[in-house]
Amino acid sequence: MSATDAPRRLTVSDIARLHADGQRIPMLTAYDYPTARILDEAGIPMLLVGDSLAQVMLGYETTVRVSMAEMLHHVKAVARGSRHALVIADMPFLSYGVSIEESIANAGVFLREGGAQAVKIEGGVRSARTIEAMTKTGIPVMGHIGLTPQAIHQIGKVRVQGKTRDTARALLADALAVQEAGAFSVVLELVPEQLAAAITERLRIPTIGIGAGAGCSGQVQIITDVLGLSVDHIPRHARLYAHLRETIDAAVRAWAADVAAGTFPGEAETVRMDDAVLAEALGRGEQDRTAGAPLGGIPLDRDL
Ligand code: KIV
Repeated sequence: MSATDAPRRLTVSDIARLHADGQRIPMLTAYDYPTARILDEAGIPMLLVGDSLAQVMLGYETTVRVSMAEMLHHVKAVARGSRHALVIADMPFLSYGVSIEESIANAGVFLREGGAQAVKIEGGVRSARTIEAMTKTGIPVMGHIGLTPQAIHQIGKVRVQGKTRDTARALLADALAVQEAGAFSVVLELVPEQLAAAITERLRIPTIGIGAGAGCSGQVQIITDVLGLSVDHIPRHARLYAHLRETIDAAVRAWAADVAAGTFPGEAETVRMDDAVLAEALGRGEQDRTAGAPLGGIPLDRDL
């Protein structure tokens, strides 16, 4: 492959073009190198290194627990594993929103050190100033409104947002604030279908829904839910397209059984050497039988 036909990394302008062309945009979370390679080669245009990493990969109870360092480690792996997709780093709890300077510096770490091309932050009206400052600095930002899991200790529990007149209006205001602040796209999480569609109609930027119905400009899912690899709760909005947990379980049981039976490794998985060279190495030759002390304390055949 020449340098000219190597796949080009997508930018936020490409995402805007997909949206303008009326294409529904798929986005998946990715947390590691092999998964990123597979998703990238499958043509998924946006890979989100979500802070859902905390729960689905690191076993924390909430996303609040994951750190910048942990996120950065995984962002780097996903960036290395992808050549085409736009990689979006989810900014962890308190890495933004405390001060504008710190928010920009942390977002910069994901772009400069992590190799991401954009960041995602939670919050509508409350995060608008941060989004504006970041985008003015040249950092593409994806917003995230509706259920914002980093606020779980305030919200109380995971539930659909915007079901009343006032909360629906607040969500409309959040969506507009995120767009006007300069975000290139916004995630709508756990929003009633009709409200998500109404928000989508009113925005110029694409909405990416999760548990927000089919009326969004695109959809995002947690990769382990799509693949049937999640070990804990699978949300109602997820659809399993594979059953990798069962596949892995069957595979590792079969492997352990082969080890127990002595049938793994077999000929195909084994390397042999020249028997004559081995005989020489082990001191089976004529001249070795008469020669000196054990080699480095290891008895050769001649010493036995
Ligand atoms: O962290 C994450 O994976 C997310 C998606 C649910 C959008 O924020």
